[in-house]
Amino acid sequence: MAEKADFDKKNGLENIPEQEPQRQYCYIKLAAEYVKRLEEALGRKPLCAVTTFGCQMNARDSEKLAGILLQIGYQMTDSEEEADFVIYNTCTVRDNANQRVYGRLGVLNSLKKKKPHLKIALCGCMMQEESVVEKIKKSYRFVDLIFGTHNIYKFAELLVTVFENAESGYETADAKPAGHAHKHNMIIDIWQETNRIIEDLPVNRKYPYKSGINIMFGCNNFCSYCIVPYVRGRERSREPKEIIREIERLAADGVVEVMLLGQNVNSYGRNLEHPITFAQLLTEIEKIEGIKRIRFMTSHPKDLSDELIRVMKESKKICRHLHLPLQSGSDRILQAMNRRYTKAQYLQLVSKIKAAIPDIAITTDIIVGFPGETPEDVEETIDVIRKAGYDNAFTFIYSKRTGTPAAAMEDQVPEEIVRPSFDKLLKVVQDTAKERALLLKGQVMEALVEEVNEQDATLVTGRLSNNMLVHFPGDRSDIGKLMQVSLDECHGFYYTGHVRE
Ligand code: SAH
Ligand code: SF4
Ligand code: F3S
Repeated sequence: MAEKADFDKKNGLENIPEQEPQRQYCYIKLAAEYVKRLEEALGRKPLCAVTTFGCQMNARDSEKLAGILLQIGYQMTDSEEEADFVIYNTCTVRDNANQRVYGRLGVLNSLKKKKPHLKIALCGCMMQEESVVEKIKKSYRFVDLIFGTHNIYKFAELLVTVFENAESGYETADAKPAGHAHKHNMIIDIWQETNRIIEDLPVNRKYPYKSGINIMFGCNNFCSYCIVPYVRGRERSREPKEIIREIERLAADGVVEVMLLGQNVNSYGRNLEHPITFAQLLTEIEKIEGIKRIRFMTSHPKDLSDELIRVMKESKKICRHLHLPLQSGSDRILQAMNRRYTKAQYLQLVSKIKAAIPDIAITTDIIVGFPGETPEDVEETIDVIRKAGYDNAFTFIYSKRTGTPAAAMEDQVPEEIVRPSFDKLLKVVQDTAKERALLLKGQVMEALVEEVNEQDATLVTGRLSNNMLVHFPGDRSDIGKLMQVSLDECHGFYYTGHVRE
């Protein structure tokens, strides 16, 4: 086994700059050499598949992974069967997300047996859990690379290590030979925490006309059920000038809609050297020419300011949609969840927002089955659903996440007890959403055309400012355009309509 210094020298790695992102651009060049060799060996462009689990943050991270994979010479495919490189960007917010990954890894194992040059990488939130990495090391030894949420910017560097590893057998401290017929080392690089934010790395946007933008990373709220603060680390805001610069570039590249991303956008900017509020950031973004629509996710109710409501009300660009997670309507459960608001405070906030912006759509997240929750508590939640009149709600059955305070609470409620309450609540959510949707019938609203309808290619799908979808006659050339659409038929969660000249 080569010493690291000799290894670096042999591979031209000794002159790699320490500074980021320059360092990663160097590794991109080096990785491209390997991919070129692979291309020659295969006689075609190597293909890669990026699979994303979880939230919009992960979707944005995947665009960064894809940006690097394209730069080093891979071509994207949706088919894992065809791919020469597969990466899973994982989520661990509920256990079913983890189970899906394990299930699919079994399939990848058989693919790799047929195609030994297939490289498999895992990253994202699930990898920040020690027990997960232990399990993969033990039972999924065919995986080539594991990294976490804090060092995703190092993807090119890690890829070079994987390629080198495959060619020379150089081992990292974490990796041990698998004891298989051919030598296989798993590269593992997980950080517990970081305060670094590396700017200006490649990104490959999924949509030409819209884009997510990270405005902050991590979370400090520690809701007692939630694993996100443990796997994404402490809250860090990006510098406003970096955000503005990124959005200006996106606008120049044809993006008309931006989605500002953070676990709690309402606390944006507090930890900056020169603190600014989220509402101030929005005001700056509003000025960027070419940007027609601004969205953001997620707003924690405890931090939603009057300033934000005012800025939204006065804005021509901020969409008429607010995602305002409730989680529970029971004060007792809210307190145990560490949400730091009461049912009454939440409802008052909703009234205030609706009074200021009458055409706003409010959506939410709800958890049913938190430890100690009784059917009476669920009734409180249902009461909020009725009173708030949600346009849509994501409802989840509580999932116990190891390491969170709620996991250690007594009175965990078995799923068969939760089910009936969950189903009842879901019915109220659906009925309320339908009622709300019906109110729009006959109106003419602006839709941003997102795609050609999958079922019927004579239709396109547009998104209204309030986040509702409308299908109407159109073609590929309409994608990315803002059009005035008449909302003719309500189908519960979406409309069909036609373009108004
Ligand atoms: N930062 C966002 C949401 C992050 S996770 C916020 O604060 O709203 C998205 C949603 O997953 C949460 O709103 C919550 O409803 C749900 N969730 C989080 N942890 C969960 C758990 N352990 N079980 C079930 N649902 C959970
Ligand atoms: Fe999780 Fe709460 Fe942070 Fe949202 S605000 S990510 S629910 S801890
Ligand atoms: Fe999942 Fe991580 Fe998002 S745990 S919900 S992908 S922040």
